[in-house]
Amino acid sequence: MSYQLPPDFLWGVATSAYQIEGAAEEGGRKPSVWDVFSSTPKRTINGDTGTVANDHYHRYESDVKWMVELGVKHYRFSIAWSRIIPDGRGKVNETGVDFYRRLCDCLLENGITPHATLFHWDSPQALEKRYGSWRSREMAKDFADYCTAIVGRLGDRVTNWMTLNEIACFTHLGYDVAGVPQMAPGSRVWRKKDVWQTSHHALLAHGLGCQAIRAASPRPCSVALVDNPGVTVPLTESPADIIAAQTAFRTNWVNGGIIFPALTGQYDEVFLQSLGREAPVIRSGDMETIHQPLDAFGLNIYTGSHVRASQKVPGYEYVAYPKSYPRMHMPWLWLVPESIYWAIRHVAEVLNRPELPLLITENGCAAQDEVTQQGEILDSDRILYLRQYLQSAHRAVAEGYPLQGYFLWSLMDNFEWAWGYDRRFGILYNDFSTQQRTPKASFYWYAECIRQNRVA
Ligand code: FCB
Repeated sequence: MSYQLPPDFLWGVATSAYQIEGAAEEGGRKPSVWDVFSSTPKRTINGDTGTVANDHYHRYESDVKWMVELGVKHYRFSIAWSRIIPDGRGKVNETGVDFYRRLCDCLLENGITPHATLFHWDSPQALEKRYGSWRSREMAKDFADYCTAIVGRLGDRVTNWMTLNEIACFTHLGYDVAGVPQMAPGSRVWRKKDVWQTSHHALLAHGLGCQAIRAASPRPCSVALVDNPGVTVPLTESPADIIAAQTAFRTNWVNGGIIFPALTGQYDEVFLQSLGREAPVIRSGDMETIHQPLDAFGLNIYTGSHVRASQKVPGYEYVAYPKSYPRMHMPWLWLVPESIYWAIRHVAEVLNRPELPLLITENGCAAQDEVTQQGEILDSDRILYLRQYLQSAHRAVAEGYPLQGYFLWSLMDNFEWAWGYDRRFGILYNDFSTQQRTPKASFYWYAECIRQNRVA
């Protein structure tokens, strides 16, 4: 099998603002919740923060050169709300907008299409202070106003917009019932219902954001949502296991409460029932706002869970990973390449949206990279991971599912949230003391895939 992809398949790489930009106090930017969270003792490994990160704010031109060298024609990055509207609402900071103008000009001059995510977790701290960020419905309105401000100003250069990245992560992993949030900024809430309320507000932000983008864009544009569904993978591909995986998909992780409302206009019914009194308050008109027409849907896929049919209610069961099951350099990063194929197929079949154009907006892995004496990083383990996941993407394309492109996470090692600089996801190695980037073997391998337009 040659694993050839269609001629118009999009090859890309992805990053996000807080993870790479640095320059935390420059150009009029004010703190985001991540500045405050990461500078609070014991929240991140080694107390790492994104204050400098990859210093991309100053080095974006040479980073774009690396993209040219790689051969990618698509770049997914995110815009920092706190650069554009430092106080969260109100005055627009034109110096902040200028940074993204320069970045986009540089991309376009090099034949690279920008795909901008409007929110990748770094909301202005001012809004945390004002009303507790996602705990308030006001956040959705402020997000939409921020969308209007930036899309009106950058829409001459960017036509591919993504609203929010991974709602489940910045809500359900940030607002904790039990005590201190482990993984992300947020505050302690008292009931599960309050956590569901934060994700409901984020869904509203997505809906209002879509409307704002379309109204503000000076040119026809594409609007997408980026989600990280819990992917249920049938243990065998027997019809019974496939049905089991499809049934489980509705309730796995937070699918029924996030991807379902966004794509179908309804929380999954069985799922909502299972929440009982912990379900969020849904006001009249909310579901219409949330359920906006989308031009594409972005899937961030890293791993999956195996499911098989069961005689017992509810008709399926999860299969635990056996002791020797392979895993990359994160506790949750099990090697489940089929998760790409099944995520795509579940959107088409379980969510019944077979026509919706899909993108893999993130896929990649952390590996324990070592620099050899010759200064090389021979990450054959990352190549092994990426090759298998891309083959699974190829299977989806070959079976006719509307997968249009793939963005590898990430262009370079960066600030991996609560894991700080301890986990490396890049295909460019970054030496954080010198900011020198060095291509890993996976960089050359990916370049070859792009050149041959196939999984090499
Ligand atoms: C995803 C995030 C991204 C990165 C990868 C490893 O959940 O969207 O920012 O941290 O995981």
